[in-house]
Amino acid sequence: MNARVEAALNEQVLKESSSSQYYLAMASWAENQGLNGTAQFLYGQSDEERFHMLKLVRFINERGGKAIIPFIEQPPVEFNNLESVFESLLSHEIAVTESINNLVDICLQEKDYTTHNFVQWYVAEQLEEEAQARTILDKLKLIGGDKGGMYMFDRDLENSAITPNMASPSPAK
Ligand code: FEO
Repeated sequence: MNARVEAALNEQVLKESSSSQYYLAMASWAENQGLNGTAQFLYGQSDEERFHMLKLVRFINERGGKAIIPFIEQPPVEFNNLESVFESLLSHEIAVTESINNLVDICLQEKDYTTHNFVQWYVAEQLEEEAQARTILDKLKLIGGDKGGMYMFDRDLENSAITPNMASPSPAK
C-alpha cells in the first residue's frame, strides 16, 4: 500500500476513534442529567464512529498495510449544556469532513483510485452527519429554555436513536 495513503488512513483511524470516545463522554454526561433520549442517541453515535474506525482498520489491513490502533486522549467529563454538546459535535464533524477531504486529495495525488473509491463512503456519511447535527442545533435554538420543549426534544431523539449495523465492518460494505 502507498505509504502516504496508509499514513493518512491511519490518521483517520485516530480521528474516528477520538470521535467515538468523545461522543461516549457526551452520552454518559447526558445520561447523568436525566436526558435519556439524548444519551441513547449519543451512545448510538459513538457506536457509529467506532464502526467507521473499524471499517478503516479492516481496509488498511486487507490492502496490505498495517493499521495502528491509537492511544486516545481523555474526553471532557463535564459539558455546560445540551446546546454546547451539539455545538461541539458539529464542529468535531466539520473537522472530520476536512480530514476526509484531505484524504481524498492524497488518494488523487498518489493515484490510489481503489482507496479513493473506498473513501467516497465517508464523504457521503459526513454530509449526512453534518446535516443531522445542524438540524438538532436548530431545534435546540428554537426550544431555548422551554422545559416542555426540552422534554419533547429528548423523547424525539430517543425515537431517532441510531442503531448501526455492527454485524459487518467489512470495508466492502
Ligand atoms: Fe465518522 Fe462522524 O465521523
